[in-house]
Amino acid sequence: MIEQRFKCPNCQEIATFYGNPGETKVVTCAACNTKGRVIIAGEKQDNNVAIEVSHLKKVYDDLIAVNDISFTVKKGEIFAFLGPNGAGKTTTVEMIESIRTPTAGAIRLLGADTKTGFNQIKERISILPQEFHSFERFTVRETLTYFSKLYKKRANIDEILDAMDLQSHEKKLYRNLSGGLKQRVGVALSLVNDPEIVFLDEPTTGLDPKARREVWQVIANLRNKGKTVFLTTHYMEEAEHLADHIAIIHKGKIIAEGSLQELLTTYGEKTTLYIKNCHSEDARQLLEEKGFEAHSSGNGDIMVKIDYKEKVLEVLSELRHECIEYDGVDIRGSNLEEVFLRLTGARLTEEAET
Ligand SMILES: Nc1ncnc2c1ncn2[C@@H]1O[C@H](COP(=O)(O)OP(=O)(O)OP(=O)(O)O)[C@@H](O)[C@H]1O
Ligand SMILES: [Mg+2]
Repeated sequence: MIEQRFKCPNCQEIATFYGNPGETKVVTCAACNTKGRVIIAGEKQDNNVAIEVSHLKKVYDDLIAVNDISFTVKKGEIFAFLGPNGAGKTTTVEMIESIRTPTAGAIRLLGADTKTGFNQIKERISILPQEFHSFERFTVRETLTYFSKLYKKRANIDEILDAMDLQSHEKKLYRNLSGGLKQRVGVALSLVNDPEIVFLDEPTTGLDPKARREVWQVIANLRNKGKTVFLTTHYMEEAEHLADHIAIIHKGKIIAEGSLQELLTTYGEKTTLYIKNCHSEDARQLLEEKGFEAHSSGNGDIMVKIDYKEKVLEVLSELRHECIEYDGVDIRGSNLEEVFLRLTGARLTEEAET
C-alpha cells in the first residue's frame, strides 16, 4: 500500500489517498466533489518478496545502531540475521515490526510500506521478542488460547500443539516449564494467527545444546509449513543449520550476505585435511613437493590445505605410495566463524560473550 497525491483538475486542491501500484481508484475531491479515476503509480510488487529493507538507519543520541542497511527476504525462506551482541539485530527487527521508528530508510512488509500501511498487514505477521516471557500461571494450552483470541484469524490450537510437539505438556503451567520448553511455547505462540512471516529474535539464547536442537526442529517445521522466518541469532551454528539466506551484521552494517555456501566460497578458508599422528617431516616435504600446502601441527599431525574434498584421495595415495604411516584422517571444512573472523578480525563467539 503506498501513499499517492491527487491534484483536482477542477479546483487544483490536493487530496491524499492510498492504494497498491497499478490499482485504479476513483477519488473524490474533498473541496469541490469532482470525481476522478487515477492509476496508482509506483513499482510493481514482486510477489516472491516478503520483506524489503532499503537504506535503513537508526540513531540513538550519538550512537548509530543501524547504519544504512538494505536487504530482501524471499517468501518461504529462513533468513538469518547473524551478529554479535549489540550489532543492531533487535533494533533492525523491531523497526521492521513497526515497534521502533527508523531514523531513515524504507521498509516493505508483504508489499506494504510500513510507514503508511502497517495496519493492513499486521495480522499477517507474528513476533517472538527477545527474552520473551509469558504468564506464569497459565497452562501451555491456556497461553495459546489467550494469545489466539487477540487475532481475527486463528489457527487450530491442537494442530499447533501437535506441530510443535507440545501435546504432552499442554496442561503444565508456563512457570514450571524448562527453558527449552518455554521457547518452544514462544515459537508455538507465533503461529496462533497463522502468520505468513514469523519474526524470532534470538529464540535459542541461553538454552543448552539439546534444547537448542529441539527449538531448531520447531523452526525448521515453520519453513515446512510455508512460513517465512526472520531469525536473529548470534550462534553461527544456528544460522548454518537453519538458514537459506544469511546476512551478517556487525556494528550496524551488513558486512556479508548470501547462502551458507556462497559465504563460505567467497570468504571462507580452504578445507583442511588433518593426517593424524604422522610424525614424518618427510611426509610433509613430499606433499609440499607435490604442490600441496602442508604444515606440521606440533602434536604430530600434518595439516594439508585442499581446495575441495576430492583432493583427499590424491593426498592419501601420495602417502601410500611412499609407505608413510599415520593413524587416520580428519577433514574440517570452513565455517561461518572463519568468515566472521576474516571480515572483522574478531571471533563471533568472543564478541558474543562480551
Ligand atoms: N532504546 C535504546 N536506546 C539507546 N541505545 C540502544 C537502544 N536499544 C539498543 N541500543 C544500543 O544500540 C546498539 C544495538 O543494540 P541492539 O539491541 O539492536 O543489538 P542486538 O544485535 O540485538 O544485540 P543483542 O545480541 O545483545 O540482543 C547497542 O549498542 C545498544 O546498546
Ligand atoms: Mg537483540
